[in-house]
Amino acid sequence: MTPIKNCILNKDINTNPIWLMRQAGRYLPEFREIRKKNSNFINLCLNPNLSEKITLQPIDRFGFDAAIIFSDILMIPYGLGQKVEFKKNFGPNLGDINLNELMALEDSVFYNNLSPIYELLKNLSKNNKLKDRDLIGFVGAPWTLLVYMINKVSPKNGLSSSFFEDIGLINNLLDTLDKFIKLHIKNQVTAGATIIQIFDSWAGLIENDLEKYLYNPTLSLVNYTKNLGVPVICFPRGISDYDKFCKIVKPSMVNIDYNINPKTLIDKIDIPIQGGLDPKVLLTDKENLKSEVTRYLQIFRDHPYVFNLGHGILPETQIEMVEELIKIVRNFK
Ligand code: CP3
Repeated sequence: MTPIKNCILNKDINTNPIWLMRQAGRYLPEFREIRKKNSNFINLCLNPNLSEKITLQPIDRFGFDAAIIFSDILMIPYGLGQKVEFKKNFGPNLGDINLNELMALEDSVFYNNLSPIYELLKNLSKNNKLKDRDLIGFVGAPWTLLVYMINKVSPKNGLSSSFFEDIGLINNLLDTLDKFIKLHIKNQVTAGATIIQIFDSWAGLIENDLEKYLYNPTLSLVNYTKNLGVPVICFPRGISDYDKFCKIVKPSMVNIDYNINPKTLIDKIDIPIQGGLDPKVLLTDKENLKSEVTRYLQIFRDHPYVFNLGHGILPETQIEMVEELIKIVRNFK
């Protein structure tokens, strides 16, 4: 059994496997080298040779306990025919939605649009390339994809005032997303993903109607993934009640963000937990890193716990600090 599955399924409390969100990314010089020559991020995600190299970079360098495919949650809007661009120092920028076209989209067209991702997964699953490691596939949660598809840019400064104006559009998009996110999950599992993570990066922006935007759509994906026989990790970043989320949605494991005090969860949540550490701690010094990492490990000493961060690793993170982090986690007793 892989280290992460062992933690999730056997509820092993004695080992703390480690991988990091965005481990295949800009803090790695070898990633930046490839990125420099490939200015179109979407095309890079659709190049199975390069995306395989990038997926393996953090595994080769650090020996993390799981690989996460190099891709993006915005590949779903792309697969649905919406224009998606990544502008330097700006972030994602999406085009207008054509709801009629989107609702009429054939499964086979969606599959073809994203087939290089499935090819990547197939290639990575071949020849025992990952040895005793999981291959994590992922999707954006319906709410977070809805946010990008309607808001068209990162809602760093909040949602546009007209966001909820067209409820018909929102309801149709939620239905369409449920269908195609499931298809993307199934295609990834068929191609070799052994775990699925659902990123709900903007879950913290949902103010009303948590049933409609958070619990119901996520539960639908969680049940679907479990029925495929694959564990599913949820990351509803920024929500105030992880306890309630876990009781309703029941993922195989939950990734917590860094605004949650881990101590307050330990008596309430009985499923395996992942993550939590503020990625900014990796920008401080080794002493502080050690005390913060050890704090998480001690709190979760008697709980199945996969070490990870409370959000993606920051591009300015030094390699040395990642090496130190892994050492601290592996040497913890
Ligand atoms: O974790 C991994 O290593 C796997 C790859 C991965 C990427 N994006 C690659 C990427 C994963 C799991 C994601 C998920 C993702 N993408 C999320 C959910 C997690 C989170 O961060 O909340 C979100 C919201 C996105 C959308 C997205 N893609 C944003 C906001 C950005 C950053 C844009 C910017 O300029 O800062 C991206 C781009 C992106 N996705 C990069 C990487 C490595 C950086 C691309 C670059 O080199 O410019």
